[in-house]
Amino acid sequence: MQMKQLGRTDLTVSKLCLGSMTWGTQNTQTEGHAQIDRALERGINFVDTAEMYPVNPISAETTGLTEEIIGNWFAATGRRQDMILASKHSGAGFKNARDGAPISGQTISQAIEGSLKRLQTDYIDLYQFHWPNRGSYMFRQNWRYDPSSQHKAETLDNMAECLEALEREMQRGTIRTFGLSNESAWGTSQWLRLSDAGHGPRVASIQNEYSLMCRMYDTDLAELSVNEDVDLLAFSPLAAGLLTGKYQNGAVPEGSRMSIVSDLGGRRTDRAFAAVQAYLDIAQRNGLEPVQMVLAWAMQRPFMGSVIFGSTTMEQLDLALGSVEITLNDEVLVEIDTAHRENAMPY
Ligand SMILES: NC(=O)c1ccc[n+]([C@@H]2O[C@H](COP(=O)([O-])OP(=O)(O)OC[C@H]3O[C@@H](n4cnc5c(N)ncnc54)[C@H](OP(=O)(O)O)[C@@H]3O)[C@@H](O)[C@H]2O)c1
Repeated sequence: MQMKQLGRTDLTVSKLCLGSMTWGTQNTQTEGHAQIDRALERGINFVDTAEMYPVNPISAETTGLTEEIIGNWFAATGRRQDMILASKHSGAGFKNARDGAPISGQTISQAIEGSLKRLQTDYIDLYQFHWPNRGSYMFRQNWRYDPSSQHKAETLDNMAECLEALEREMQRGTIRTFGLSNESAWGTSQWLRLSDAGHGPRVASIQNEYSLMCRMYDTDLAELSVNEDVDLLAFSPLAAGLLTGKYQNGAVPEGSRMSIVSDLGGRRTDRAFAAVQAYLDIAQRNGLEPVQMVLAWAMQRPFMGSVIFGSTTMEQLDLALGSVEITLNDEVLVEIDTAHRENAMPY
């Protein structure tokens, strides 16, 4: 397993990170625990969760259950120190946490307390803000993104207040470092600037969607990443399952994510299936297993901290774990670039 120093922190994480957002809905606690055991046995040390998980579907009854499942694993195994754990403070508008209150100096300590209790631990390694209070262009909102109603001074005041609250939490030892999610280049640069001005901790990572099908990170955020040592933690690297090829030709396997969320969060478009086919053909021509090609490609990107994938079965997990054995050669990378040009932004 390749390891990577996260940002400028002293945390070293595996280049594959185990996603957890199905534990408590699609997966039972026993299945979640089996996934953690297998992933750790195979060299993964990094698990991503959030106070709002599980999802698909989201409900008030299950909110927080994924953290509880991870907490029960810590309690049962006593292996807290074997895992670098990332969790997230939900952003504004998420009704099941603090009635949808925006992230602020007040909510941070409350949210962390709740997570620590569910997780049965006294620290979170990477504490992330799930989405910015001012909104985000992720999750297909890019098509109609209009930041013109934002208030710069208010945004910066809130960021400074949040950094100060995070600094207090770091002093208390409840969190080790801090990351963003669903952020933009402008937003991240402001967090960095305020941290440089002494308001609080330096952002270590940005958790945004990134895959062969969703490459908005490739330009401005990529540049910010390499120059500022802020690593990408790529979520939905298999495009929520599309890139496995299992939804080609109209198939919707029973129990699959598409059987629960029919448009796959706006990813189910005609152009998406054509793009998937182009990548499946590249894998076939080169004797590669598609899931492994897709994950290996993501791990090879120059700004990659870790690739956060999801599995709902042990077979899926084993296949994903096999991607660490693979390095894509230049010929395959050129074919992928050509397919990308021909199938840019399929959703
Ligand atoms: N920060 C954020 O806003 C955000 C958003 C989304 C996710 N995340 C994080 O990223 C993690 C991963 O997200 P994701 O689950 O969307 O990632 P993904 O790796 O793109 O998709 C994983 C899903 O694809 C399907 N799959 C995986 N391997 C397969 C195989 N070999 N054959 C057939 N189907 C396969 C499974 O779904 P089915 O079996 O159900 O079809 C699995 O749950 C989450 O758990 C979470 O930690 C963060």
